[in-house]
Amino acid sequence: MDQAIPLTALVERATSAFQKRFGRPARYVVAAPGRVNLIGEHIDYNDGLVLPMAIDRYTVLAGDLAEGESACVYSRLMDEQHIIPLASGDVTGLPVWTRYLRGVFDAYREEGIYPKAFDAVVDSTVPLGGGLSSSAALEVATATLIETITGQSVTPVRKALLCQQAEHRSAGVPCGIMDQFSSVLCQAGHLMLLDCRSQETTMVPMTDPSIEVLIINSNVKHELTGGEYAKRRAQCEAAAQALRVPTLREASLAMLEEKKSELDALLYRRARHVITEINRTTATAAAIEAGRWADVGELMAASHASLRDDYEVSCPELDILVAAASELGIEQGLLGSRMTGGGFGGCTVSLVKTEATTKVAKEICKRYRRQTGVTAIAFATPPAQGATVLVSNRS
Ligand code: GLA
Repeated sequence: MDQAIPLTALVERATSAFQKRFGRPARYVVAAPGRVNLIGEHIDYNDGLVLPMAIDRYTVLAGDLAEGESACVYSRLMDEQHIIPLASGDVTGLPVWTRYLRGVFDAYREEGIYPKAFDAVVDSTVPLGGGLSSSAALEVATATLIETITGQSVTPVRKALLCQQAEHRSAGVPCGIMDQFSSVLCQAGHLMLLDCRSQETTMVPMTDPSIEVLIINSNVKHELTGGEYAKRRAQCEAAAQALRVPTLREASLAMLEEKKSELDALLYRRARHVITEINRTTATAAAIEAGRWADVGELMAASHASLRDDYEVSCPELDILVAAASELGIEQGLLGSRMTGGGFGGCTVSLVKTEATTKVAKEICKRYRRQTGVTAIAFATPPAQGATVLVSNRS
């Protein structure tokens, strides 16, 4: 099992790196978590319901105000430092990670909040490119730092939306609102039921000490992600249009069956995933509140099958991890498992009995390695707290 360094140690690492590099103490330290989605996959951009939680893996920015018109940021993970212009100025030569910061600067400026020049160290325990929203964590940390050093802030919902805009512009992926909402708004000890149409959140307590969330990173990433994601989104829009509803949130299974003959077979399957997944998400939140864990497990299995067969965003590696988990089953402490995030690699999320976590994780990783030759990485996480300001010494 992978043990991430705790947030306090991560902060210590970032602040001492700042002191060493910039020769003065960091006056501001902020943290934003990654997220895992328990259920409701490829649903946010269809205006439906999703059920993510923040994980106790964070991106931290430790910094101080500086002179000039730019941010000077050292990434501890990349071991590189770059000057990122706050506004105008060429960024084409800069590496991808700096574009997330710049995207947030742009979004805040357009909102009337002018980022000030700063120096900072960025450090993180969110696995990069593993489908746990490392980019959202960086965007939300950046937004939190801007709000802290300017003393001006927007509402948490607006903050998440500005970070989503930054993602659209920086990565060119038309993502939904789930990742940035999770990193801003999640609360420790809770899953967040997010209605992506109304943007309202309901916190679902997840505090039963006998149940744990286990994340297993397949450590593969198939290179289709960006293009396939945009394609799925377009297919959902086409299906909604054919069903004559504004979004698939407004469609029902009965309506879909009635119009089946008018619908292209592929669009039918895409829509079936979305409609059934929204129902599964509502049902999962209710089952968790009632402690009906066997039902939760079945809903997670059905979600995975639907993503694999109807939505076609899984991959052999994720299917192997989920199959290994379901072979273990409830008897061995495995309550449910499915792929999580955009797909085509990345992670699975499982619910396990706490007493069995280590054993179950070891066994799944062993079977995975035997079948794929790849080493997966497993870790358990409690539902963590959204973005926080840890140090703010404004003078
Ligand atoms: C990515 C996107 C999210 C969401 C998921 C799939 O993580 O950034 O907005 O669509 O995929 O559920």
